[in-house]
Amino acid sequence: MGRPRPAAGGAGQDRPGDRDGHAIPVTPLPPHVRLDRVSRSFGPGAGPVLALDGINLDIARQEFVVLLGPSGCGKTTLLRLIAGLIAPDGGSVQVGGQSPRPGRDAAMVFQSFRLLPWKTAAENIAFALPALPAAEARARAATYLDLVGLARFAQRYPAELSGGMRQRLALARALAAEPQILLMDEPFASLDAQSRELMQGELMRLTAVRPATVVFVTHSVDEALLLADRIVLLSPRPGRLVETLDVPFPRPRWQTDLRAEPLFAELRRHLWDRLRDMVLTDPQSDFYGRQIP
Ligand SMILES: Nc1ncnc2c1ncn2[C@@H]1O[C@H](COP(=O)(O)OP(=O)(O)OP(=O)(O)O)[C@@H](O)[C@H]1O
Ligand SMILES: [Mg+2]
Repeated sequence: MGRPRPAAGGAGQDRPGDRDGHAIPVTPLPPHVRLDRVSRSFGPGAGPVLALDGINLDIARQEFVVLLGPSGCGKTTLLRLIAGLIAPDGGSVQVGGQSPRPGRDAAMVFQSFRLLPWKTAAENIAFALPALPAAEARARAATYLDLVGLARFAQRYPAELSGGMRQRLALARALAAEPQILLMDEPFASLDAQSRELMQGELMRLTAVRPATVVFVTHSVDEALLLADRIVLLSPRPGRLVETLDVPFPRPRWQTDLRAEPLFAELRRHLWDRLRDMVLTDPQSDFYGRQIP
């Protein structure tokens, strides 16, 4: 089966009882990631850009959250805050109840892969595991190369791999750290359409085998609906959270074509309507004020 759904502790949950049938109070699990009234700006004092404003977001353990929104709405900034690479100006970010520290809980996967061209596939992974003894890092690299189907290419250099293979290598490198949180910033944006679809299936398969909390950024509505347990829609200037949408499709999803389902088309339309309105009413957007059906 697919990923376990996070326990929400909500109203519809079965309530356990003791042997005499008395109800035992259910304590909701604390969120894995909690953003509480988070704001963050950039730039010089006089004219700073308010990249994020008043963001409240709880992410459950092993939940797959997709951040969707127009360019400049603060998606990358949100990932960097969760990774602990930057701190908020206002509010708080907590991961497992603590302030995040870079490299402790989360691993990042970027659109540009960020592989070291002078190292082989196996060395690229082992190099990213400095805390492990060398032999263990090599063994870990072999395990994860195998998991993403690149075992035969362990001794190849990035330049000798296709775009899709490089992306799989970058994913293997992030997974090899066995992070509790996987932060993915438009990881498939530079792939061709076929590789992208294959990688989406691959990511669903891998996160079913090695569950993690995932925060995934994309501009693609279809990709968001295919991958997410929940979609978080952000609006730009300042970056605000405008809607969260629970994606109702059961898992596993990679064996069926969800796009053929009427509900998929309905949700897709809804998200597109919201995104289009944001872009057409944003004076700083290239599409501001245009008539787009
Ligand atoms: N290091 C920085 N210095 C100055 N401004 C920044 C910095 N990082 C982000 N910003 C600004 O903050 C806003 C949000 O940027 P961010 O990169 O988070 O958006 P995004 O949603 O990831 O955009 P895109 O979809 O284009 O990647 C933008 O206006 C951007 O110019
Ligand atoms: Mg970005």
